[in-house]
Amino acid sequence: MIKNNIISRYKGNLIKLYVFLRYILLSPQDIEKYIPEKGKIVDLGSGFGSYDIYFALKEKKRQIYGFELNKNRVYNANIAAENIKNVKFFVQDFNKNRDINNCDCIIMSDILHHVSKETQDILIMSAKSKLNKTGCLIIKEIWEKPLWKYYYCVLHDKIMTFNEPIFFIKKNDMISKIKKAGFKKIEVRIIKSWLLNPIPHIVYTCKL
Ligand SMILES: C[S@@+](CC[C@H](N)C(=O)[O-])C[C@H]1O[C@@H](n2cnc3c(N)ncnc32)[C@H](O)[C@@H]1O
Repeated sequence: MIKNNIISRYKGNLIKLYVFLRYILLSPQDIEKYIPEKGKIVDLGSGFGSYDIYFALKEKKRQIYGFELNKNRVYNANIAAENIKNVKFFVQDFNKNRDINNCDCIIMSDILHHVSKETQDILIMSAKSKLNKTGCLIIKEIWEKPLWKYYYCVLHDKIMTFNEPIFFIKKNDMISKIKKAGFKKIEVRIIKSWLLNPIPHIVYTCKL
């Protein structure tokens, strides 16, 4: 019900279709359960904001800020979030957001594989410095198994980004990166989905 309500908030059939398909490929419930029930939550590269709006509607005590480079996505996300007081979207480059601090949660959903290995390290390290002591970093990425799904994602992202470089991170390498950044408690979960879902989702929850 909430998902249908959110889809209907978007203007334009193409965006509605995009959000509908995104929800089929990754249900927001599968991420929502790892997000604190209250506090300041920052989503880096929030896209059309469909996940953040879901998180905000589920728990009113969450205050969610989405940062996204693409102005059109931010505009449409704010239209969909109209009259929902605890979520707001801003045009901002996640490499430059120095004024973010004291967060209870930082979300990086499908953004790290779009930046270089060095930038991945910088983003994870800087997330650590922006979290409260009890805060948590949530990374949603692409798992490297099964191989056919992994290669589907490589192809999909190459087409969607017009052949920009892609930097998928294998599970063990990601754990090393997270540890190197100073996170002590790391939980890794492969998201169970319908059998032929071509996206192998993996979620890392990282605490200090
Ligand atoms: C694959 S989409 C993921 C969107 C959303 N997080 C989700 O899971 O549905 C990656 C998003 O990151 C945004 N992005 C890429 N580079 C960015 C940057 N430097 N600062 C902010 N957003 C960026 C893109 O515009 C795009 O909307």
